[in-house]
Amino acid sequence: MSSFSTPPATATQALSYQPGFGNHFSSEALPGALPPRQNSPQRAPYGLYAEQISGTAFTAPRTENLRTWVYRIHPSAGHTPFKPMGSASLRTAPFVDTPATPTQLRWDPLPAPQTPTDFIEGLVTMAGNGDAATQVGIAIHRYRVNRAMGDRSFYNADGEMLIVPQAGLLRIRTELGILEVSPGELAVIPRGLRMSVDLPEGEAAGYVCENYGVPFRLPELGPIGSNGLANPRDFLAPVAAYEQREGHFEVVAKFQGNLWVAEQSWSPFDVVAWHGTLAPYKYDCDQFMAISTVSYDHPDPSIYTVLTSPSPDPGVANVDFVLFPSRWLVAEQSFRPPWYHRNVMSEFMGLIRGVYEAKVEGFVPGGCSLHNSHSAHGPDRETYEKAVSAELEPHKLPDTLAFMFESRYVIRPTREAMESPTLQADYWRCWSDLATHFNPVRNPNEEIQR
Ligand SMILES: [Fe+2]
Repeated sequence: MSSFSTPPATATQALSYQPGFGNHFSSEALPGALPPRQNSPQRAPYGLYAEQISGTAFTAPRTENLRTWVYRIHPSAGHTPFKPMGSASLRTAPFVDTPATPTQLRWDPLPAPQTPTDFIEGLVTMAGNGDAATQVGIAIHRYRVNRAMGDRSFYNADGEMLIVPQAGLLRIRTELGILEVSPGELAVIPRGLRMSVDLPEGEAAGYVCENYGVPFRLPELGPIGSNGLANPRDFLAPVAAYEQREGHFEVVAKFQGNLWVAEQSWSPFDVVAWHGTLAPYKYDCDQFMAISTVSYDHPDPSIYTVLTSPSPDPGVANVDFVLFPSRWLVAEQSFRPPWYHRNVMSEFMGLIRGVYEAKVEGFVPGGCSLHNSHSAHGPDRETYEKAVSAELEPHKLPDTLAFMFESRYVIRPTREAMESPTLQADYWRCWSDLATHFNPVRNPNEEIQR
């Protein structure tokens, strides 16, 4: 339980968290602020208002049901009517103004903003699929920002937000408490929850997967057993931390693809206590317990799934969040990098730090790539040549952290992404000069036994 009350927006302090994934959490910033027996007493403690925020239908199965009760100074409803608010770069699927190309695509990092830009203004939509209106699919954004949101808050009625910082610390105030998220960590903000992103280090950049579909959950582990991959205890939810401040506050809503703004005279982060299953959380990717081969061959990348948003078809994801962390490679008699492939699923990749194992150059931290359904890809020439001549001693991939948003639906780039100066026109060339090694008269066993 937290005992502090009003953290200034830009203060740095050691934050407390509640560990666990999918728990029924409980936190109060003042002792006794949670009603002891019921959710909606005639008069809530301390003169607070009781309010429920749901993340699933009331009637969703118990194992999937997400809802949280908050006890706050003002109910959320007391704001002015929403007015339309433009956005130059934030888009919502479906994207129909440019054809989806089967060509492999890769982008350089976003340039630094030339004007003060906060987290909402700095979201640049790269690609997406499905339809926010029918709660299917995703949108993928990048951000590069230099201004704290301050007294502007934001909620997204179109989807939950998986935020993957690449540079710069994010201090994310939410109605349920504060998360500080560094590069190498991720944060998930539930659909509809108000948040505000401040920048203790002044600047930040990263990626966002806006999930229109079923909320992210941990993947099933099958024969792996009850431990491994992302362990539940490493996910951290905030503790209650409220602001009692009056002034001019903006509430920005993303609703059916448009931004709307309303005003109110108090901070929306005025929840003194809360309990429930709907909560924002963060996760340190370095805690990921990577499991891979200890014999031969490169396993399917699904072995590195951190979080999954399922689709109605068993085992087929609306979107998976997949990590490629630093780890030991020990496969014998094997081509150790990812194999060449054409997958039915569509793959959008980003790089947090280091070098990705299948590309020697061109895929840099802050950049991204898109290999859509059945678009052929794999290691570049230099990676291939090194891999087939390497001594297969145990080898540790040096400090590296790449990730993938993988979806069953074709990921359509936005027109802005296709016209962006960050698009690498010559990406396709990294496979164009692969040498031919075929020799029909050579003993085939020579290759396997080398
Ligand atoms: Fe791939």
